[in-house]
Amino acid sequence: MSAPAKIIDGRAIAAQIQTELTTRVAELRRRGVVPGLAFVRVGEDPASKVYVGRKEKACAELGIVSETHILPEATTEAELLALLGKLNAANHLHGILVQAPLPKQIRESVVFATVLPTKDVDGFHPVNVGKLMLGDDTGFKPCTPAGVVELLVRSGVKTSGAEVVILGRGNIVGKPMAAMLCQKGAAANSTVTICHSATRDVRAHCLRADIIVAAMGVPEFLKADMVKPGVVVMDVGVNRVPDATAKTGTKLVGDVDYKNLLNIAGQITPNPGGVGPMTIAMLLQNTVRAAERAAV
Ligand code: GUN
Repeated sequence: MSAPAKIIDGRAIAAQIQTELTTRVAELRRRGVVPGLAFVRVGEDPASKVYVGRKEKACAELGIVSETHILPEATTEAELLALLGKLNAANHLHGILVQAPLPKQIRESVVFATVLPTKDVDGFHPVNVGKLMLGDDTGFKPCTPAGVVELLVRSGVKTSGAEVVILGRGNIVGKPMAAMLCQKGAAANSTVTICHSATRDVRAHCLRADIIVAAMGVPEFLKADMVKPGVVVMDVGVNRVPDATAKTGTKLVGDVDYKNLLNIAGQITPNPGGVGPMTIAMLLQNTVRAAERAAV
C-alpha cells in the first residue's frame, strides 16, 4: 500500500481566494461601486435552497450585495424571462444567477441565453460558452470547472502534458472542464478524454489518467482498482443515497470511493469540503470581475 493521498482542502483554498477578493471589493467601494448579484430560484427544490443560501452568505461576508427572487414552481417561462429582462436592465446588479434545475415547463437553454452575457457570472450564456471554446478570456467561465482548475493550480498539480479523464459530459461541468484543460496556455495544455454512458471501457481510460475529474452523478463510481497509483482525483459529485444510520435516513456521497482511493491516489478532494466551496469562490470572483468591468 502506498502513502495516503494528500487531501486537497477546498475550504482553505476557497477562503484564501475570498481573502484575495476582499481587496478588490474594497477598491470598488472606494470608487463608489458596490458589487451586486441577483439570485433567482424557481420552486422549492431542497438542494437549490441550500446552495442559494450558501451563496447568499458568502456574498454578504465579502461585501457583495445580493438579492434573491423566489418564484413559485408553476412560474411560466415568459414570467421568468420578464423578470430577467428587469434584472438585466438594473444598474445596481452586476451579476445574475438562475439556479438550476428549473421546473419542466421552463427551458434552461432559453433562460441561460436571456441573461446578458456581461452579467452571466455562471458562464452559461452561449456567448460565454463560445468564448471558452475559443480560448478567449474576456468571457465568464462556469464556476465549478473553474474551481477545479484553481484547486489543481494551487495544489501544485502539473496539467501540461497530463492525461486527464473527465467522467461526465454535462454542460455545467464535464464539457466546460474539457474545454478549459485542453486549451493552450498555463493551467491547461492537458490531453483530455471525456467518458460518458456510452464509453466502452471506462476503467481502461481511467487507468492511464494522471488526473481524473468525476462529474457524472453516480454514487462512489470511481473505485481504487480503476486508477493508477499517484493519480489526482477531483470529486465533483453530490449524490443523496439511503443511509439507515443517519437521522434523516440519507447521506451525501460523491462520485468517488474516497475511503479506498485514499490509499492509492497522490492527491484527492474530500467531499464535502473539496470542489463545493470552490464553486462559490469562483462565483464571487466572477461577480467582482463583472463589477470591475461595469465600473470602468
Ligand atoms: N446547479 C448546479 N450547479 C449550478 C451552478 O453552478 N449554477 C447554477 N446556476 N445552477 C447550478
